[in-house]
Amino acid sequence: MIRKTRICVTCKVEKGIESGTMNDNWQTPPDNLEISPRHVDVWLTSTEKGEAQIRAYAMSLSKAELARAQKFRSKTGYREYITTRGLLRQVLSETAGLDLAGVDFMYGEHGKPCLDARVSGKTVAFNVSHSHGLALVALTPGGRLGVDLEKIRPEVEWRELAGRYFAEAEFRALENRPQGDGLRAFFACWTRKEAFVKALGAGVSYGLNQFDVSVGPEEDYAALTIRSQDEDADGWLVKNLPVPDSHVAALAVDRPACGFRLWHVGHKL
Ligand SMILES: CC(C)(COP(=O)(O)OP(=O)(O)OC[C@H]1O[C@@H](n2cnc3c(N)ncnc32)[C@H](O)[C@@H]1OP(=O)(O)O)[C@@H](O)C(=O)NCCC(=O)NCCS
Repeated sequence: MIRKTRICVTCKVEKGIESGTMNDNWQTPPDNLEISPRHVDVWLTSTEKGEAQIRAYAMSLSKAELARAQKFRSKTGYREYITTRGLLRQVLSETAGLDLAGVDFMYGEHGKPCLDARVSGKTVAFNVSHSHGLALVALTPGGRLGVDLEKIRPEVEWRELAGRYFAEAEFRALENRPQGDGLRAFFACWTRKEAFVKALGAGVSYGLNQFDVSVGPEEDYAALTIRSQDEDADGWLVKNLPVPDSHVAALAVDRPACGFRLWHVGHKL
């Protein structure tokens, strides 16, 4: 059964986020926070938790999630998965009023988790991402939503990957970035593209060269151009998320007028 615990921000003790690279864009959530149709709520957490917290998160997961967790060969993968799912369930419970005890998520054709509205009685769009010690959970009542977080890894052959997977305009824009900025711009572009295809639920099967995003890491919002007729770029917002400098993150949502609330979370379970 999911534990009904208050989300308690313990920024000072969160390993990794305490490192000084964190910025004050991420706020302490107020008591009794509720999701709102005017906002997307985004939660950032370190996944480097103590054993007690990992155990407490694990207790909130379904049997199927626990079985999946057991399949991770690395301890890091195991902990990231448990933390992200645990936080997702906690936030859905506390801010969307959903009692998900024993309830499994449903999965779309390409593996996107969602809620069965017949069971939950509510429509809540959510998405998660985790990478090398950090995790993001994003949610809002309804619509389509995707989030992506990546650690900036210098060993990545970004020119080769961009040339192979990105649209031509993106590749050219990356080539034209100032000296030394290409890698970060590549990851900014990557997370924006991933966030968009995750919002659609299609993953990379959508075709990463079927749409363009702007690549400047300094942009709060990315420009989006969609080639196919099935989506209208004006109906989307692709936002940069100000995560610690070690990572880059983006969020895509099909509600261009909505605002964002960024919450920095630690847990006392
Ligand atoms: C899920 C996917 C869309 C992104 O995966 P990722 O970036 O490796 O991992 P993230 O941490 O960002 O996201 C994983 C989470 O997204 C969710 N997810 C899974 N499939 C999804 C889908 N089709 N759409 C949206 N979300 C999905 C899950 O909750 C998953 O978390 P979990 O495994 O802990 O349950 C993956 O299927 C994919 O296509 N990866 C390809 C990555 C790639 O080659 N990118 C090229 C550069 S652009």
